[in-house]
Amino acid sequence: MRPLTIAIDGPGSAGKGTIARGVAMQLGYQYVDTGAMYRAVALRALREGLSWSDEDGVAALARQLAFAFQFRDGSLRVSVDGEDLTHAIREDTIGMGASQVSKLPAVRAALLELQRSLGAAGGVVMDGRDIGTVVLPDADLKIYLDADLEVRALRRHAELSRRGEQTTLADVRRALDARDRQDMERSVAPLRAADDAVRLDTTELTIHRSTQKVLELVRERAETGA
Ligand code: DC
Repeated sequence: MRPLTIAIDGPGSAGKGTIARGVAMQLGYQYVDTGAMYRAVALRALREGLSWSDEDGVAALARQLAFAFQFRDGSLRVSVDGEDLTHAIREDTIGMGASQVSKLPAVRAALLELQRSLGAAGGVVMDGRDIGTVVLPDADLKIYLDADLEVRALRRHAELSRRGEQTTLADVRRALDARDRQDMERSVAPLRAADDAVRLDTTELTIHRSTQKVLELVRERAETGA
């Protein structure tokens, strides 16, 4: 099977990360989590006392960061400048910060070339918000993953509870909805399905079934080239 470039976009907690990781592991592909990059930029900006709306400052920071992604024991580790930030970037406040810094055109431009170069060799699954529309417009397969807000909120709430973060389902739903709106309504590279994306609604699907469906699409695409 020829190695493909696979773009997966969609709103928060639609299952993108888990499914993209599963697909990459099954196929022996590289997985690139572009949301983790924006999250790392937001975290480092916070630590360095930069406002999340300081476009020049945050973009200069984003240009300097050295990202490294590594699979270890089936999970993805994200390191920046040699520091493992895998867990620190998953906090909900950092997710909101990522959404804020990602509105800034200079910050997006700072990460775009790196993301494109990671996708260039093929044999890659990349997930985010603008992968099929902007980062890899020539991807072999584009998937737009979605699920009802209520189901996505339940998933996010369960994930946060597992990590010991105390929140209510209503707060999680509100935060998720606010972030999706911000990501969809920004002027640069807003979240939307590419015209040639395959839409997959995971509201009623398990992660396993969703991953299988994506793998079926990959096989079809690799065989037919269609
Ligand atoms: O997928 P995630 O929750 O880790 O992404 C965090 C934020 O980063 C998301 O709310 C918007 C931004 N993002 C983006 O603008 N473009 C991407 N390709 C990936 C993420």
